[in-house]
Amino acid sequence: MTAKSNQWWETGVIYQIYPLTFADANGDGHGDLQGIIKRLDYLNNKQENGKNSLGIDAIWLSPINDSPMIDNGYDVSNYYDICPVFGTLADFEALLTQCHQRNIRVILDLVVNHTSDRHPWFVESRSSKDNPKSDWYHWQDANPDGSVPNNWLSYFGGTAWTYCPEREQYYYHAFNQNQPDLNWNNPQVRQAVYDIVRFWLDKGVDGFRLDASSVYSKDKYYRYNPVKFGTTDKNNYNNQDHLYDKNLPENHHIIREIREIIDRYDGRVLIGETFIDSPMFDSAVFYGVDGDELHLPFNFEFTFSPWYPGYIQREIQKKERITPKGCCPTYFLDNHDIPRHLSRWIECSLCTNPKAIAQAAATILLTVRGTPVLYYGQEIGMVDYVDIPLEQRRDFAVVKGEDGELPPARDGCRTPMQWDDSVHAGFSFGKDVEPYLPVNDNYEEVNVAQQLAEDDSILKFYIRLLEIRKNSKALTQGSWRSLIHYPYEHLAYVRETAAEKVLIVINFSYEKPFELDEDIEPDNWLVLISNIQNTGQEIALPKTLQPFEISIFKKV
Ligand code: GLC
Repeated sequence: MTAKSNQWWETGVIYQIYPLTFADANGDGHGDLQGIIKRLDYLNNKQENGKNSLGIDAIWLSPINDSPMIDNGYDVSNYYDICPVFGTLADFEALLTQCHQRNIRVILDLVVNHTSDRHPWFVESRSSKDNPKSDWYHWQDANPDGSVPNNWLSYFGGTAWTYCPEREQYYYHAFNQNQPDLNWNNPQVRQAVYDIVRFWLDKGVDGFRLDASSVYSKDKYYRYNPVKFGTTDKNNYNNQDHLYDKNLPENHHIIREIREIIDRYDGRVLIGETFIDSPMFDSAVFYGVDGDELHLPFNFEFTFSPWYPGYIQREIQKKERITPKGCCPTYFLDNHDIPRHLSRWIECSLCTNPKAIAQAAATILLTVRGTPVLYYGQEIGMVDYVDIPLEQRRDFAVVKGEDGELPPARDGCRTPMQWDDSVHAGFSFGKDVEPYLPVNDNYEEVNVAQQLAEDDSILKFYIRLLEIRKNSKALTQGSWRSLIHYPYEHLAYVRETAAEKVLIVINFSYEKPFELDEDIEPDNWLVLISNIQNTGQEIALPKTLQPFEISIFKKV
């Protein structure tokens, strides 16, 4: 099976919604599906010529299935229903219909590495050693000396094994103890998961983001992971080589099986969270052989990059090198697990002009070769809410350290979308409730309404850039080529098809102009967008780019 070309996601833009904090229609303080419906014009109203709309092509919803919410929905207790917090199946169907009417595809988060410990499968599995689902999770006896079965660690801290008195055995959980891992070696488990996949595809969803898709398979013999040489803290996840609990060959068989199901439907996309923390692998491996696994493997290049052009370019070049022919790269700056890029980059660059960083970051994300994924709120320059008071925190899946301290929670990047300067930033249509997470204090200055009214806002920049991208074959399908070998203070690269050539330049320096002495024809360039040059003008390429200039030119 080879990848079909000209699929919508190869040229489209995906927008991640964290449903708990995007928009709350029923006024109970929790975001919900009807809330998303109310905000669809903002996401894509292009059919109506909506000039205040982003015009994105798909939304990816963080999990909306029934869940006790220990890990904010990444712990599913019923895959066939919607969590009442978000609404009903009928609400979901309404959302799907309304999205499709606007050319917005809907991608669901599929959390099947593990279930909630309240899922009936686990409740049955834990009840005895000989029930029909006894082998649906990873059960192991203690070692003869009474210690846990092996040295595998939970990504959230501590051992990955929790004792179950009913079975007098331990079960394995790559994440929190309330998230027991499914045993994918069991064919019945696979079939049960594939039924779920088909159920949602039959409903009309346009694809899945496979949560934690690199840890589905585990070593059959539960061998100990080697501890990295010279490590003092053996209980730190990052100090092990994850040879036996991550990225095993069987993982690829599983993803291929899911892909086979997806391919029986038209135009459905398979995305995977392929977090890579080992030099043994690169992201290309997740495309499979002849592109028969993930369409879009999510890696974390930009999320670990400092605000430094050399690093960013190196990541792009690496991806250009390793992405198999016919496969599509994908990039993102933010998601619900990591601090927002503006928070990261303002801090590390000591920059006093967040707007410039936000616009430059948007330019990179939307002009590299690949599918960009936006995270709600980045388009208005939302930053993390740092130090949310303990009593308002929600991210309790992570485990306390030996000192009893909770590690920094992920709540900071999940605060309510800032729609306007009214109470709760317009997130909740109810006024007297506490939102699920507190609204960032800066909402009166940073919000959608205010930025729509301001011509040179971050949001207006995004809207224009998304429009430019959509209308440019070079930006959506063209090759990528850097003009600079050793970028130090600027990036300059070209996107090109046979018929169109676009030049992107970003000067990262606030102090110094940038001399464009690269080998590129100087004459007849149209300014598509710029924070310095007059947009829409045809000009000869300026030799000197201004401090922090961000410009995109098209050859005419
Ligand atoms: C993924 C999700 C994260 C979740 C974890 C366990 O990494 O992105 O939010 O906590 O899986 O499901």
